[in-house]
Amino acid sequence: MCGIVGFVGQGNTKDILLAGLSRLEYRGYDSAGIALYSQPFTMVKAVGKLEELKKKVSASKDCQLPYSMGIGHTRWATHGKASEKNAHPHLSMHKEVVLVHNGIIENFAELKTFLQEQGYSFYSDTDTEVAVNLIEYYYRKDKDILKALFSVQKELKGSYAFAIMFQEDAKTLYAMRKDSPLIVGKGENAFYLASDVSAFLDYTNEIYPVENREILSLSEKEIHIYNKNGEEVKRSSTIAELSQRQIHKGEYLHFMEKEIFEQPKVVKDTLLYACNQENEEPAGNAENPKFSYEAFSMTEKDFQEISRVRVIACGSAYHAGWVLKSVCESLARVPVQVELASEFRYNHPILEKGELVISISQSGETADTLAALKEAKKLGAKTLSIVNVKGSAIARESDFVFYTQAGPEIAVATTKAYSCQLAAGYIFSLLLAKAKGKISKEETRSLTEELFLLPGKIQQCLSFDQEILPMAKELKDADNIFFLGRGLDWAISMEGALKLKEISYIHCESYSSGELKHGTISLIEKGSPVIGLLSQEELAGKSISNIHEVRSRGAKCFAIRMEDIAIEEEDFAHNLIVPKTHPLFAGSLLVLPLQFLSYQVSLLKGFDPDKPRNLAKSVTVE
Ligand code: AGP
Repeated sequence: MCGIVGFVGQGNTKDILLAGLSRLEYRGYDSAGIALYSQPFTMVKAVGKLEELKKKVSASKDCQLPYSMGIGHTRWATHGKASEKNAHPHLSMHKEVVLVHNGIIENFAELKTFLQEQGYSFYSDTDTEVAVNLIEYYYRKDKDILKALFSVQKELKGSYAFAIMFQEDAKTLYAMRKDSPLIVGKGENAFYLASDVSAFLDYTNEIYPVENREILSLSEKEIHIYNKNGEEVKRSSTIAELSQRQIHKGEYLHFMEKEIFEQPKVVKDTLLYACNQENEEPAGNAENPKFSYEAFSMTEKDFQEISRVRVIACGSAYHAGWVLKSVCESLARVPVQVELASEFRYNHPILEKGELVISISQSGETADTLAALKEAKKLGAKTLSIVNVKGSAIARESDFVFYTQAGPEIAVATTKAYSCQLAAGYIFSLLLAKAKGKISKEETRSLTEELFLLPGKIQQCLSFDQEILPMAKELKDADNIFFLGRGLDWAISMEGALKLKEISYIHCESYSSGELKHGTISLIEKGSPVIGLLSQEELAGKSISNIHEVRSRGAKCFAIRMEDIAIEEEDFAHNLIVPKTHPLFAGSLLVLPLQFLSYQVSLLKGFDPDKPRNLAKSVTVE
């Protein structure tokens, strides 16, 4: 998704903007640009990677002057293709206003017509250029910057985080947001603006959160925040929880590698987080763990009132929903339906009394999931979100929230956040089963104990980093790869297929083993790579027969299995074994070799696993 940065005050504006944009690269983009305050504004834009912009900036004489204010942007194309004319910043027709934007103006077409009737012409295909001209229109009409911004706020539909400069005001940076993230950093005689704190964390960790529909003015020494009614809001700064270490790769080559290796710790942190909440029982800990309802900001009664569960999510979070379904139905005997958030909203959903809608989202900003959540609330459902970012839009929109403890996830391909989503699903299912009286105290204790053994077993699976290499080398030139599994293994195969295709660009398909013979098996030919996931004892026999079906048609089979699942080794070209755990939790281990497989194949193909083409870390457009 797009990323915005802004700076005003004493400092090397140009370098601060470019450094901030580098920190936001993970959000995904295809062009970038900066604007520096001068008369007229100094602007540089470039298509492609940030390196292209940096080259143009260092080649520009104008950019070598000192500047005290500027804005910058990385654009993930929505309206209009990736080109210089569509790249941000965008300048109004009379050159009085320049801005950068993250989000989508949904009513841009009607506003564009209105502006054209007022004599405005446009150079780009973007909704953003409509916004900047609308601001200029009202500014010329109201002759007052804040008044103009309030007038525009009333007109705009959709989502936006703007950083804005006015030619008239050399000392003040303006900003406004609705539904797109925006945060302010306070420096020494300076203020920073960005889509997320990582953009300026190298300069300051003193932050001001920005609430929806607020308008801000920032100068070297002052910040003024106005609510949607135009009243000034007094807000004190806080210290960002994020540390610099968390946004640096450290000794790792890529963030994805670092985040895979962080999984034992962050899964354990998530388990402990679910124990260490204030509750009537003594808080749990790793020695005598007790999960608490309060970890979901819910009471036992809230859990008891759940008659059904509906999961809405996208991508890997959606796959985590399928694991939650298996575990929850098995333990709590409560029906769970898993839906793509982008479909849910348009499926005329029917929600029953007592149906809890769970949104799963790493970023907490995914537009499809947020929109589906709002639809569920409109239908009167109680809502729980399982998110990784505190105070994110989805968290704020939900009745109940469970925060996974993965820490900031920078790589576009999720790994540690997904693993924490699985852990959250196990804990939710266990608590629901307990509240419904479906499992005994003894079963609760032993399942909890097994969960606390998971981080250590995940640690053991980190050895697949190297063990996966022979398999990665065999698969790196494949055109199509099939991932097969039954039950929980099918849910994990979904994630395996997505992980590999999104960073190696090989077409991968996840298939329920039993379903393959109903059509897709026609695609199997000599040498077709098929990866079979085998962790469910009672399904293994059937899954192995399905593997025989494809093997007899020439497929080259690879097994990723739990240690107690017996196979005929000669059936498989490679046979990776993960430690034994409760079958319901096996996905947390099977996924490790799959993550490493994706990472290593991407490297072998010469790609950057952290920044896959066309993808964004947080998809804030529908
Ligand atoms: C996962 O590797 C992808 N980057 C993507 O599928 C992601 O899981 C999806 O966009 C949902 O994002 P969210 O968890 O932030 O809502």
